[in-house]
Parts: sequence; C-alpha cells; structure tokens
Amino acid sequence: MKVLVATEKPFAKKAVDGIRAIVEQAGMTLSLLEKYTQKEELLVAVADADALIVRSDKVTREVIQAAPRLRIVVRAGAGYDNLDLAACSERQVVAMNTPGQNSNAVAELAIGMMIFMARNQFQPGTGTELRGKTLGVHAYGNVGRLVAGLAKGFGMEIYAYDPFIPAPVMQSEGIHVAATLEDLYRRSDYLSLHIPANKETTGSIGQALLSLMPKGACLINTARKEVINEPELEAILAQRTDLKYATDVAPGNMDALKAQFDARVFATTKKMGAETQEANINAGLAAARQIVGYLQKGDKTFCLNK
Ligand code: 3PG
Repeated sequence: MKVLVATEKPFAKKAVDGIRAIVEQAGMTLSLLEKYTQKEELLVAVADADALIVRSDKVTREVIQAAPRLRIVVRAGAGYDNLDLAACSERQVVAMNTPGQNSNAVAELAIGMMIFMARNQFQPGTGTELRGKTLGVHAYGNVGRLVAGLAKGFGMEIYAYDPFIPAPVMQSEGIHVAATLEDLYRRSDYLSLHIPANKETTGSIGQALLSLMPKGACLINTARKEVINEPELEAILAQRTDLKYATDVAPGNMDALKAQFDARVFATTKKMGAETQEANINAGLAAARQIVGYLQKGDKTFCLNK
C-alpha cells in the first residue's frame, strides 16, 4: 500500500521522518510530493496512492478521479474546506482531519498578532498593552479556546460567542458568554476569528459587525480569508480610521488595503499559523496513525463524510 504525502507547503523534516516511521512500521510505503507548483504534479502523484495526507492542498473531484486506488485522505490540520467531501463520498473515499493537533501554533500566532498590532507593528512610537482590554473569541473551538486561555494570562477580559458550545462550558472556563454575535463585536477591543469557511460563514464578516467594534479595535484573522467580505472590510477601514486588521490569510485586496491604510493593516506573506515544528509533528503523525488505523482496523474516528 502506498501513502502519499502531498504538501505544497512541506512539513518540517522531523514530521516527515515520523510519518515515514509510522507508515513503514505498518508495512506500507511512503511517497512524497513537496513544494509542487502545478496541480498536474498532484494528479500524477495520486495515480497509485492508496492513502493521501495533505495540508491546505486542494483535493478536488479531479484529484479523486485521478486516484483510482485511493481509500482515505487525511487533511493534517483542522479546516477541511480544501476537501471535496461529496467527491470523496461518491468514490467511498474516507476523508478525515486531525482536529486540535495544530491548534496551539495558531493560537500563539493570534496572540502574537495582537501584540504586534498593539505595538504599531514594531515601529517606533507609543503603543498599547493587552492587559485590561477585552478579547472577543468568535467560535470557541480548539483554537478559540486556546487563544482565550493565553489571553487570560495577559490579563485580558474574554468574551466568546459559539452557538455550538453550551454556555456553562465556556463560563466554567472563566469566559463571559456574549448574548449575540453583535454583542461580541460591540465589546471587543480585539476580535479573534476562529470560524471555519463554509456556505454559512463565507463573506459573513463585514460592515454590519465591524462597524460595531469599539474605538481603536483590531480584528485578528487566523482562520480563513473567505469569511471576510473584502469590499466591506475596505469600506469600513476607510470610514473608521481607528480600526485595524491583522491576518494570517491575506485578502485578495491586500495591496489596496496596504496602500490606503498602511500601519493599520497587516498580512503574513504566506499562511503560517500552523507552521511550527510541533504542529507539523502533531498533525502529520496523527494523520499517519489515522491512515494506519483505518486501513488496518477500519477505525473511522475523525471521519468527515459519514
Ligand atoms: C488548519 O486548518 O489546520 C490550518 O489553517 C493550517 O493549515 P496549513 O496546514 O495549510 O498550514
């Protein structure tokens, strides 16, 4: 059996070594496609793969069709908006993610971005502190929860909004529960986004919510670019000269934002939330174990297309 690791953005070497050890110990072979630039390279590489590990790499219907032996694809990470689940299901390919495995890395980056923005992107001049400010956590999943825990250490007051998490769970962790999404945005000096990109959330963060934020507020997006209504973000940044935006998932209009708003906006050059050795090892090895577990024992934990 062949396990293909196809990562346009490669794992750290230690993670690849760990994946290889798990795969080979299970009597399978590992094949690597790293830093590829053309989808055709992926289409060729999957032709004889029984299992596939990816990161944000797009596993489209075309990819599934090019992989006649494929039985399982694991997205080593949390967000699975890059997997065509319907195409996987039609071919009875099991799709999984590895929830929680890279969350700490993303959470630390979100906090780092808050400090970076509070200190004027490390340019000379007087900044502000996080202590005493209010943090709004939009979605209290694995990353949101870790961001909240870290922010508590900075002396921030934390509010969260998540219709999928019972209020007592958040309250038991010292989090104030926002009554509504609008209430969350109205309170947040910093708003950290942790919603997935899907039909409901695409373009959902725009003028209506951002205009509610307090004076000098900053939106931090380590989630997905698709959740932002980009024209509305540009419009509100023009209207509200106090608002700031920092993101790990650069919007399509980033050049225009930078030209107009300069130090009030920031985007990493390439998504780096999960780019730590630890996160690569945690997510990569989990993916390899999940593949072995499924192919050898039929274990479908973390299956996304039930
Ligand atoms: C995730 O959904 O797990 C993160 O966005 C990390 O994505 P990456 O593996 O492309 O860095």
